[in-house]
Amino acid sequence: MKTPTNDHSDIKLSCRNVWKVYGRQPEQFFEGTQGRVTDAVQHSDAIRDADHIVANADVSFDVHAGEIFVIMGLSGSGKSTIVRCLSRLVEPTAGEILLDGEDLLKKSDAELIDIRRHKMGMVFQSFGLMPHLNVIDNIAFPLKLQGVTETERYAQAERVIELVGLEGRENNFPKELSGGQQQRVGIARSLAVEPDVWFLDEPFSALDPLIRKQMQDEFLRIQEKLHKSIVFITHDFQEALRIADRMAIMRDGAVVQIGRPIDLILNPADGYVREFTQDVPWERILRAEDILDDTASETAELKRVARGTLVETLLPRLAANNSGVVVEGEDGSVLGVATARGLTAALAAGCIPAPEEA
Ligand SMILES: Nc1ncnc2c1ncn2[C@@H]1O[C@H](COP(=O)(O)OP(=O)(O)OP(=O)(O)O)[C@@H](O)[C@H]1O
Ligand SMILES: [Mg+2]
Repeated sequence: MKTPTNDHSDIKLSCRNVWKVYGRQPEQFFEGTQGRVTDAVQHSDAIRDADHIVANADVSFDVHAGEIFVIMGLSGSGKSTIVRCLSRLVEPTAGEILLDGEDLLKKSDAELIDIRRHKMGMVFQSFGLMPHLNVIDNIAFPLKLQGVTETERYAQAERVIELVGLEGRENNFPKELSGGQQQRVGIARSLAVEPDVWFLDEPFSALDPLIRKQMQDEFLRIQEKLHKSIVFITHDFQEALRIADRMAIMRDGAVVQIGRPIDLILNPADGYVREFTQDVPWERILRAEDILDDTASETAELKRVARGTLVETLLPRLAANNSGVVVEGEDGSVLGVATARGLTAALAAGCIPAPEEA
């Protein structure tokens, strides 16, 4: 997976102060503001008091080129709405959506259709296949909309069929396929147009756990090859952990926290984020560099380990020796000493409720 950087030149998609309000007259709340309000919480409350539904409230995030950006949150927190706003399948009430620096909200309908057809791929939880078309025709369908010739679209459909491992099923109809296979068709169809940005809204939620894990592996394998810029929605923190470069947690339409999964685990913004992160298998997530102990000092006899070493592999050594291990950066420089105490401190920071919430 790609390591996110602070280099803004690689931002593919940007969501700036996006609001989606349903009701009689949603625009009234945003005249002249571009979605930038002084206090988003207060503003949301006022909108709700005026009998409108706030599906998205002041949502801002960037998706870097080649990154998997995951959005999580409870049911009704606004995940599907925001991902639909990104392609303007749902029209945002206020804010900006920038794709390659250009504001999508300023595009005409015709331009928008063209952008969706050529630059965006979408996969939905319900698969959304056309029941009267077989596998290859389902997959080739978006290319038909693009006006691609028959020969070319079947050649391209064959390529993506191979990518998702559906060779031999070209002539089957959706009802003849398992859930996992149907979603492979959905994935292949969304990739057929070679999109720049790829939106997946709970693509694996309808699948049983074993198939789900297989599909996650396949998805990661495909991404390893294609390096798409991805927005992936899930309910499942374990899934987010496996696939996310960075993630956002949403509540009541708003983003509560954005960061790498490990940042959210170690420094949850509040009890809501902690609810999601508290059941993680710590030893498989924490790395040597996450459990440095300020009070320990380096000595010559301590073993040296790379910063990314999983704590799981260090546990026997940490248990046997209070002095810990020396953690090295890529260039061999010493970052600090990881100890059992450092591990306990990291765990305490992430999983024990703060006093005011206890
Ligand atoms: N067309 C609509 N009209 C009115 N309210 C809507 C509409 N679409 C969505 N909402 C409301 O917006 C809020 C966010 O819905 P959204 O579908 O984005 O949630 P979600 O996080 O995707 O939930 P889930 O995990 O169940 O899919 C919900 O309160 C929902 O009822
Ligand atoms: Mg949804």
